[in-house]
Amino acid sequence: MRDTPMLRNLAQESRIAIDDFIYPIFVTHGRGVRNPIDPMPGMYQLSLDNLIAEIEEVASLGIGAVLLFGLPASKDPEGTEAYEPNGIIQEAIRVIKQTAPNVLVFTDVCVCEFTDHGHCGIIRNGRVDNDATLELLAKMAIVQAEAGADVVAPSAMMDGQVAAIRSGLDSKGFEHLPIMAYSAKYASSFYGPFRVAADSAPQFGDRHSYQMDVANSREAMREIQLDIDEGADMIMVKPALSYLDVIARARQEFGYPMAAYNVSGEYAMVKAATENEWIDGQRITLEILTSIKRAGADMIISYHAKEAARWLL
Ligand code: PBG
Repeated sequence: MRDTPMLRNLAQESRIAIDDFIYPIFVTHGRGVRNPIDPMPGMYQLSLDNLIAEIEEVASLGIGAVLLFGLPASKDPEGTEAYEPNGIIQEAIRVIKQTAPNVLVFTDVCVCEFTDHGHCGIIRNGRVDNDATLELLAKMAIVQAEAGADVVAPSAMMDGQVAAIRSGLDSKGFEHLPIMAYSAKYASSFYGPFRVAADSAPQFGDRHSYQMDVANSREAMREIQLDIDEGADMIMVKPALSYLDVIARARQEFGYPMAAYNVSGEYAMVKAATENEWIDGQRITLEILTSIKRAGADMIISYHAKEAARWLL
């Protein structure tokens, strides 16, 4: 069954396609800005004028969805720009919808890029206040929906965030808007390069009081179940590569559409080794993406999406 390419193709169990990808984009204020993100070669912080060409390229490659992250003009304890109607994310959504209306816009619902302390919620008495944060997250999802977001993706790992966002959206007439829940999001060191890209490293402590312990898999199943009970339409495991077992287990236990996030640190390692000519970057990237599909993900959020789309054409 392995003797010829045609036999191998017929017997192939999982396959990556351009439709599987969601491509993350970082937007920032200003004009003419295209700042390279050092630990993520090929990725940039883009101002809105440069976002137009980026989206045209994404659309021409056949990539159907993007996930937006933004750098605010200024940060404050409550992450105000996250839920201002003319905040950077909301403006970016409008630009994308004008440029390529068919490209789905997913938005990250989390305040860590917008807060001066860099945590994913607001701080009361020196710690992240889960319940006080829920209202902000709901407000944030609503302004994103009003700006034209197609799917909101809560990533703050606050308990009850999916329910709070669902009822917030429903109260404003966005009953139809799906929620992609970052359900099993680990407290991972693989997010390091992203925190450079989004300038969102916590200024004190770490995220272990709300993101999951890397050692746990049963807990991931509980988190996913809770999000489904709260109204999640899609679930997610993040990161992807060190968590293929969690993806496979979630695929067996839940019938929901599932995303895996091939995160910044996974991308950075491949790029660094490729640039040193220690590995074959194209083959390794396609192998990694295929393994994420094989484990059971339906969609893959990946910084490799544009190059992978070119290789798959
Ligand atoms: C926001 C958020 C993070 C990532 C996606 N959304 C950072 C974090 O939780 O620290 C990381 C993505 C990546 O590393 O590529 N909370």
